[in-house]
Amino acid sequence: MSTQLHSLKPFNTFNLNAMAANIVIAETAEEMVFVWQKSLADRQPVLLLGEGSNVLFLEDYQGTVLVNRIRGIAVRESDDDWHLHVGAGENWHNLVEYTLEKGLAGLENLAMIPGCVGSSPIQNIGAYGVELKHVCEYVDILDLSSGKIQRLTAQECQFGYRDSIFKHKYQTGYAIIAVGLALKKAWIPVITYGDLIRLDAEKVTPQQIFDAVCYMRTSKLPNPKITGNAGSFFKNPVVSAEQAALLKARFPDAPFYPQRDGQVKLAAGWLIDRCDLKGFTIGGAAVHRQQALVLINQQEATGADIVALAHEVRQRVGTKFNVWLEPEVRFIGALGEKDAVGVIA
Ligand code: FAD
Ligand code: EPU
Repeated sequence: MSTQLHSLKPFNTFNLNAMAANIVIAETAEEMVFVWQKSLADRQPVLLLGEGSNVLFLEDYQGTVLVNRIRGIAVRESDDDWHLHVGAGENWHNLVEYTLEKGLAGLENLAMIPGCVGSSPIQNIGAYGVELKHVCEYVDILDLSSGKIQRLTAQECQFGYRDSIFKHKYQTGYAIIAVGLALKKAWIPVITYGDLIRLDAEKVTPQQIFDAVCYMRTSKLPNPKITGNAGSFFKNPVVSAEQAALLKARFPDAPFYPQRDGQVKLAAGWLIDRCDLKGFTIGGAAVHRQQALVLINQQEATGADIVALAHEVRQRVGTKFNVWLEPEVRFIGALGEKDAVGVIA
């Protein structure tokens, strides 16, 4: 366990220059419990952090940032599956590469998603037709007050689109310390999304899907090491069939993704793009030119710049389409998480 310098810049992919009263890197569950309990005794808030690729620091954080770096990957096999038990602090993309090197397929569509394995269940990460819920077997959580560890089955995690029980019942007071994945030995390629449909289902290999996903992502999404960002800033809005029908009548070329429950998912990037907001700037923050759903730290942006830009984007899309975007990114204030919609409304 080590205490670091207090700048949060290396700990958030927006590259915002926020500070924290304290930053602690924890490599074991015991260290996490120790820090949590000490902070509680000192009446200091604690923020759990992976790689900071889905957070927006609105201001300096007045408590302890507890960075999860619990490591380890263990693989075992059953008749039908490869089972992986992965420490929450492992890097997600490294895990994807590790599995492919070992000849274990199933994670290739989820290549290049930044962040830790332990964060992957929280918003049920997804890309190119696959979501974490398709490969998750269980999630181990630590009750930070008692030190007790509990295993939740994938079903108990209540995964939804960018949602899970870790944004609700287990949001506060619990740390994810490990994730169990099950990868089917009988691999079925998922090549239904974007340029992947051009691949030949009979011949395609996991590595080819991985390469195609990396290529698509590199051409659209800014590299946070060069241009600060947190991926999609907003969730894709899900609207009723009636509202979707009205929109379709007015905007027949808009993408519509019907959901199993009859609702329809819209493409927030398309809505923002249609408001001619690509490249739109407020302070140091801008709408990315290649992917309008991504807000970027173009030039020494502050959290306030990003909030002002997000407010403007939400207003313009809302006014034009009567669809009100909600952030996917988690907003962190001086004492903890804030209601993101409330902040930008
Ligand atoms: P952080 O940002 O560190 O934390 C996110 C939230 O989880 C915070 O509220 C934090 O308090 C909490 N938390 C962190 N660790 C723990 C823990 N161990 N226990 C409990 N709570 C914890 N997401 C997708 O789904 N699909 C994509 O295709 C995608 N593409 C992206 C592309 C780019 C360029 C970027 C920058 C982001 C992208 N994202 C994507 C979003 C992001 O990668 C995911 O949300 C990722 O899972 C966040 O991981 P993290 O470790 O950085 O989480
Ligand atoms: N579009 C535009 N203009 C834009 C951006 C998108 O017209 O500027 C259109 C595209 O042409 C396409 C549609 O909108 O018809 C959807 O775009 P894309 O395929 O790029 O996906 P997305 O909906 O913008 C979602 C996820 C991404 C994930 C990709 C690939 C959300 C909020 N975002 O983006 O996840 O990588 O699909 O599966 O669901 C993230 O969550 O941070 C993230 C990057």
